[in-house]
Amino acid sequence: MITTDILPDGPPTLRLVPMAADTNVAGDVFGGWILAQIDIAGSVVAHRRAQGRVTTVAVNAVQFHQPVLVGDLVSFYAEVTRVGRTSLTVTVDVFAERFREPHARECVRVTAATLTYVAIGKDRRPRPVPPSL
Ligand SMILES: CC(C)(COP(=O)(O)OP(=O)(O)OC[C@H]1O[C@@H](n2cnc3c(N)ncnc32)[C@H](O)[C@@H]1OP(=O)(O)O)[C@@H](O)C(=O)NCCC(=O)NCCS
Repeated sequence: MITTDILPDGPPTLRLVPMAADTNVAGDVFGGWILAQIDIAGSVVAHRRAQGRVTTVAVNAVQFHQPVLVGDLVSFYAEVTRVGRTSLTVTVDVFAERFREPHARECVRVTAATLTYVAIGKDRRPRPVPPSL
């Protein structure tokens, strides 16, 4: 085991492994790929809390702390942190687990983001977020 951050308790919202096709010209994983997965993970918890369709209205903040590498096991932990009338704020923390050698596992908090989603109806217009179940 090398240096390691601690994964949050519980299962991640999304977990996957980037492939060579997801890299930038320098060979690290493209930031746009990470952002796409962040948006998906955030929408999962926002959709669950809003009990229906949501759309992304803003990516409020993103910090890329460390690079993501091809073959990393990347886990996205999303949490609703604020519920407004029709909008929801979600934070997403991203961790990469690296297995470079048979018994060397490294866990790194690579990215953190805050996004806002809006609950929308069939007409694509904002609808109130219902009380939590
Ligand atoms: C999201 C959308 C339906 C909101 O419509 P709107 O007429 O601007 O809605 P409102 O002004 O009533 O705002 C709705 C909520 O969003 C919040 N909001 C709007 N813009 C925001 C922003 N830039 N950042 C944070 N919150 C925002 C408002 O504060 C409000 O929250 P509240 O009801 O909890 O107080 C509309 O902007 C839209 O369809 N955008 C495109 C979404 C999209 O296609 N996303 C995918 C892009 S890949």
